[in-house]
Amino acid sequence: MKVSIIGSGNVGIATALYLAEKRVSNITLIDVVKGWAEGKAMDIGQASPIRRYDVFINGYSDISMIKDSDVIVVTAGKPRLPGMSREDLLRDNVKIMKSVSESIAKYAPNAVLITVTNPLDVLAYVALKVTGFALKRVIGMAGILDSSRFRYFIADELGVSPRNVTALVLGGHGDLMVPLPRYSTVHGIPVSELLPKAKIDKLIERTRKAGGEIVSYLKTGSAYWSPGSSAAEMVECVVRNRNRIVPCSAYLRGEYGIDGLFSGVPIKIGENGVEEIIELSLTTEEKQALHLSADKVREVIEKIEAENLI
Ligand code: NAI
Ligand code: 2OP
Repeated sequence: MKVSIIGSGNVGIATALYLAEKRVSNITLIDVVKGWAEGKAMDIGQASPIRRYDVFINGYSDISMIKDSDVIVVTAGKPRLPGMSREDLLRDNVKIMKSVSESIAKYAPNAVLITVTNPLDVLAYVALKVTGFALKRVIGMAGILDSSRFRYFIADELGVSPRNVTALVLGGHGDLMVPLPRYSTVHGIPVSELLPKAKIDKLIERTRKAGGEIVSYLKTGSAYWSPGSSAAEMVECVVRNRNRIVPCSAYLRGEYGIDGLFSGVPIKIGENGVEEIIELSLTTEEKQALHLSADKVREVIEKIEAENLI
């Protein structure tokens, strides 16, 4: 399968490298800056004899080279700088997502589209509207990343291997995301049996702010290894029809009481994209938190629609 990554900056390149390491071997990189994707592709290709992956990887500034891609990852756009929220990227990134989506609809009309650019849930909506793709073929990357961060913090707190920890974070990719300790375990043991509530609450708060915490250290951009590994995981699920259940941003039509929006929920992800949306029974408090997060996404979408940005 042909995988194209539009935006060969930090997250795009991390995604490409993880894909090569997973032996997903037909990769096209695109970047608007001439020469950038070409150079990055060469660099990853030249590591292949040592890293032992067979990869057919090329870079272009001409977006028509995504032609007939089976999977496309969009990371094109501006990243956060210190003090910026994901919504601060709104206007510039809506414009970029709109133009990229028009090209995707033209050159790769059958692709499964995975969006990464922030603000995530809003831009997934822009991509869906502009491409006119079937709902199941547009998915936003965030839940895997946010859950991975929660897993890591739980593992770190307990001094256990992160591989032992499963955790679930739902909702929009923003400070109102909804980490769910009730669905988080260490090798099947509920995290609430291993940590006091006050400690879990601290880990939840850190998870919500984890992206910003990294920005405050980096100063010139945002995280990319964990986001790149999350996007690569999603691509692999599609390319290899894994049917794994993972949290992703999916377009909801009444599930969880949310309609006409992207929000992070557990999905089964396979060769068609969203194979199924899994509906969990949530407590009143969890449902309220999820709706609060969705309301924030809706507010931003109403703003860009009112300004005729899409
Ligand atoms: P970056 O600045 O390193 O890379 C972005 C790349 O996109 C640049 O190389 C730029 O030249 C390129 N670009 C801009 N407009 C383009 C266009 N029209 N066509 C093709 N390429 C274009 O930024 P980074 O760190 O890779 O982040 C990318 C985006 O991903 C940001 O919006 C960031 O906020 C978001 N992000 C989202 C995450 C999530 O969980 N959903 C996690 C991490 C980042
Ligand atoms: C992150 O969560 C900035 O969305 C990006 O790292």
